[in-house]
Amino acid sequence: MYFNKIVLFITISIVSANIIRVPTNIEHNWRSNGRNFTGKVVLVTGSSSGIGEITTKEFSRLGASVVVTGRNATDISRVAKEAQQLSPYKLKPLEIVADLAKPDDVNRLVNETIETFGKLDVLVNNAAIGLLATIDDKNLTDVFDAVMAVNLRAPLQLIQLVHPYLNTTNGSIINMGGIRDSSIDIRAVPIGVAKVGIDYSVKVLAVALGPRIRINAVDPGPILTESLKKYLTPEELDAIARQIPLKRIGQPIDVANGVVYLASDDARYITGTNLVIDGGLTVI
Ligand SMILES: *[C@@H]1O[C@H](CO)[C@@H](O)[C@H](O)[C@H]1NC(C)=O
Ligand SMILES: *[C@@H]1O[C@H](CO)[C@@H](O)[C@H](O)[C@H]1NC(C)=O
Ligand SMILES: *[C@@H]1O[C@H](CO)[C@@H](O)[C@H](O)[C@H]1NC(C)=O
Ligand SMILES: *[C@@H]1O[C@H](CO)[C@@H](O)[C@H](O)[C@H]1NC(C)=O
Ligand SMILES: *[C@@H]1O[C@H](CO)[C@@H](O)[C@H](O)[C@H]1NC(C)=O
Ligand SMILES: *[C@@H]1O[C@H](CO)[C@@H](O)[C@H](O)[C@H]1NC(C)=O
Repeated sequence: MYFNKIVLFITISIVSANIIRVPTNIEHNWRSNGRNFTGKVVLVTGSSSGIGEITTKEFSRLGASVVVTGRNATDISRVAKEAQQLSPYKLKPLEIVADLAKPDDVNRLVNETIETFGKLDVLVNNAAIGLLATIDDKNLTDVFDAVMAVNLRAPLQLIQLVHPYLNTTNGSIINMGGIRDSSIDIRAVPIGVAKVGIDYSVKVLAVALGPRIRINAVDPGPILTESLKKYLTPEELDAIARQIPLKRIGQPIDVANGVVYLASDDARYITGTNLVIDGGLTVI
């Protein structure tokens, strides 16, 4: 076993020595540019509400040019205005109404982004739909197809389309996954399969997209968004908060901070991983 690892290590070293220059100096003085996204272009899907909205605003606050996209033009223009206010350079976001279930819309999203900004540095696959169906519901396979289209196929299509652009900027991709729920919801086969698919695709794509592009997943626990507030009563939210080691439901900015970290140079040696942001819920 140990011997195999050595052989593997030597093989990899020899193979990679042919294609990349193996660094020989230790970078004692290397300093990351950290949370400064000046000059960067960032596309976050589902950025007209919830976690995506806060993430886009945070990138704008940190100097990036951002795209605000979703299905509702009213929401998009509100978020775009607020993001512009936060920008240190008062950069105007690009607004794109798009339905990720439609492959043509996904194409247009990338096309307009590149036509407008000329490049892309960060793609955040955040948009997802949470439709539920049990094994006995007649609509199960329709629900499955609808969930797969938005939660899994659209991210993959986007990655395929932006690959050449991220290659030239040494860009980064963050896929929004989710923690495995502590109790199984029997209606959650479609969304559960999509979550696992997102996490697994990150592993495969980290290998396929290197060395220029990094890809990671962020797996949030329960996060206080308008849609969670609609779905759960205050009492139910309290009950969840009490189970969490950090004793509160997460805030969208807690997730945005993780996304920003993975997109930044601070994470330049991190690819193919999952960053769980759940206040410790999954360890109990
Ligand atoms: C971010 O970097 C740009 C140059 O790339 C610089 O002009 C700006 O002052 C920096 N912003 C912060 C907050 O450090
Ligand atoms: C778009 O969002 C606005 C504000 O959130 C809401 O009033 C409106 O009904 C939404 N439109 C559609 C078509 O969902
Ligand atoms: C965007 O689409 C137009 C029309 O099909 C095409 O001419 C243009 O080259 C596309 N731009 C990019 C960046 O793909
Ligand atoms: C699927 O059907 C069930 C049972 O009729 C219903 O409760 C559920 O809302 C439906 N799901 C969707 C996404 O339409
Ligand atoms: C990305 O860059 C690598 C070189 O590091 C190159 O081999 C590969 O063909 C490029 N891929 C695309 C899609 O541009
Ligand atoms: C991307 O990385 C390659 C290899 O490390 C480097 O040669 C190139 O200058 C980088 N490009 C940018 C835009 O940073």
